[in-house]
Order: sequence, then C-alpha cells, then structure tokens
Amino acid sequence: MLVLYMKIKIINGPNLNMLGTRQPHIYGTMRFEDYLLQLKAAFQPVVLSYFQSNHEGALIDEIQSLTEAEYDALILNPAAYGHTSIALADALACLSIPIIEVHISDISKRESFRHHTYTAAHALHMITGKGLDGYKEAINLLLNK
Ligand code: DQA
Repeated sequence: MLVLYMKIKIINGPNLNMLGTRQPHIYGTMRFEDYLLQLKAAFQPVVLSYFQSNHEGALIDEIQSLTEAEYDALILNPAAYGHTSIALADALACLSIPIIEVHISDISKRESFRHHTYTAAHALHMITGKGLDGYKEAINLLLNK
C-alpha cells in the first residue's frame, strides 16, 4: 500500500514559547508543545516539525532553509514580527511552498497596530481568532487543497 505523507513545518515567532502562562485570557492555558502532541495524534499521515524563536534572524534562517524537496507547506505564526518585519516578509516571498498564516487571537479586534501584517501578503490564507485550533484548521486546509 502506498502511503503519502504530507510534510508540514510549523514556525512560531516571538513570545509564543510562553503559551500556557502568557496572557491566558488572550492565548489560553495550553503550552504549544502539548498542543503539538494533540496535532500529531490527530493527523497521523502528516509529518509535523516545529520551530520557535524569539529572534527575527533565526526565523529568517529557518524559513530560508525550507526546501520543496523537504516540506510541502509552512504554517507560520509570525507573532509580533508579522506587524513589523519586512525582512520576514521578504524571506517568505522566496518560498515556493504554500504558507498559511495563523494568529491565535483575533488580531482584527485588538489594537490597531495588530490589524495589518506584512507577512500575510505571501500567505495563501490567514486564520485568526480560532485559538490554538487555528493550527488544526490550517492543516485541514492544506490537506483539502
Ligand atoms: C499573535 C498576535 C500578535 O499580535 C502578537 O504579537 C502575538 C501573537 C497571535 O497568535 O494571536 O505574539 O500572533
């Protein structure tokens, strides 16, 4: 039997290593690492790998290292760098794999400086305000594409 695996990279930007304790009224109480275990169990035929950094350059290096041969898609939560980083957006512009941008909170209903992201211009789709389940929605979207 031929089993086709989809390989997806999840990249989270700054302060998302603090999920679980960071402003739980906005971001919930679960650590991303725990949620990732749920995602892996829910999507067995998907190979998920995860990278998080608080550093803009490290995020750019990681994005630059993603090749079509190795990955089918990227799910990116750029966090605050989405609102500020043209450099991150430029790195995404070089990628040939599809990108889904995820924000846990509804950025359209928060401070006005969160309403725009430079990175979204390079994403197929943006999911915002669905909590951690936004990542699940992103995987489903990629699987149904
Ligand atoms: C966020 C929203 C951003 O505005 C914020 O800076 C984050 C997290 C989200 O997932 O809701 O760090 O990307």
